[in-house]
Amino acid sequence: MILSGSRSQSLAAALAGRTGHDLAGVSSERFPDGEQLVELDPPTLAGEEAVVVATTATDAAYVELLQLQDAAREAGASRVTTVIPYMGYARQDEAFEPGQPVSARAVARAVSTGTDRVLLVEPHESAVCDYFPAPAEPVGVAGLLAEPLVGLSEPVFLAPDAGAADLARTVRDAYGRGAVDHFEKTRHSGSEVTVEPAGTTVDGHDVVIVDDIVATGSTMSQAIAAMAGEAASVTVACVHALFARDAYTKLRRAGVDAVYATDTVERTVSEVSVAPAVADRL
Ligand code: R5P
Repeated sequence: MILSGSRSQSLAAALAGRTGHDLAGVSSERFPDGEQLVELDPPTLAGEEAVVVATTATDAAYVELLQLQDAAREAGASRVTTVIPYMGYARQDEAFEPGQPVSARAVARAVSTGTDRVLLVEPHESAVCDYFPAPAEPVGVAGLLAEPLVGLSEPVFLAPDAGAADLARTVRDAYGRGAVDHFEKTRHSGSEVTVEPAGTTVDGHDVVIVDDIVATGSTMSQAIAAMAGEAASVTVACVHALFARDAYTKLRRAGVDAVYATDTVERTVSEVSVAPAVADRL
């Protein structure tokens, strides 16, 4: 039985379709004091495996995930597998300043209390899996980002920073041809970054900029602006389209021609489903 968090309904339904598992009904209500409560339909899962699918892009989504896991146990599920399409707080994977927490470790411990196994879709760093006391594995999906790309002319696959260079290479490999390079990024604050253009010639080429996350859009809009005007076209392909605040309009204003992402975070640009990659691991 697949139990969906409220932000992962399309992916949960796609997974149910691919695996043949049933999709549970999940209703939720919010009390006047702000607390939330989920309720399963059917209320019993005696002896069944429960697969909880929930992106944790917000604090409330983490609470919902913990409640879904606990409701599955209460309903008698024999085993609980937790799929986290996008793991919030994973980027705080160390205490960067004295006095800070390792947020990724804190949430990983909490999530592990209610599950037998965790699948993390394209985590920012695979090493975050080590913070889960429960068995946790990354599911790589970057290659799927090549699906919508057709007929590119002399493509150049660019990562906005060195950390995403492997992702850009994976998309290039899945597409089958093209150059790969990356920008040099300096982060000045949570929403301010600068990127130095890559050395590869992009004049007249179709450029695809690949990243794991677009959050505020600061990184990506800088990279787009550096390419627009020179490249024949600029496409953005990202795994997790968080699109905080005005991120999407930032990309458009920077001159991007096309933007698409996966369904780990459900957005209008979520053209690529990660369901096949996750279903293979269930
Ligand atoms: C950072 O290392 C990530 O790969 C992304 O580049 C970053 O999270 C994007 O954040 P923003 O959209 O806020 O610039």
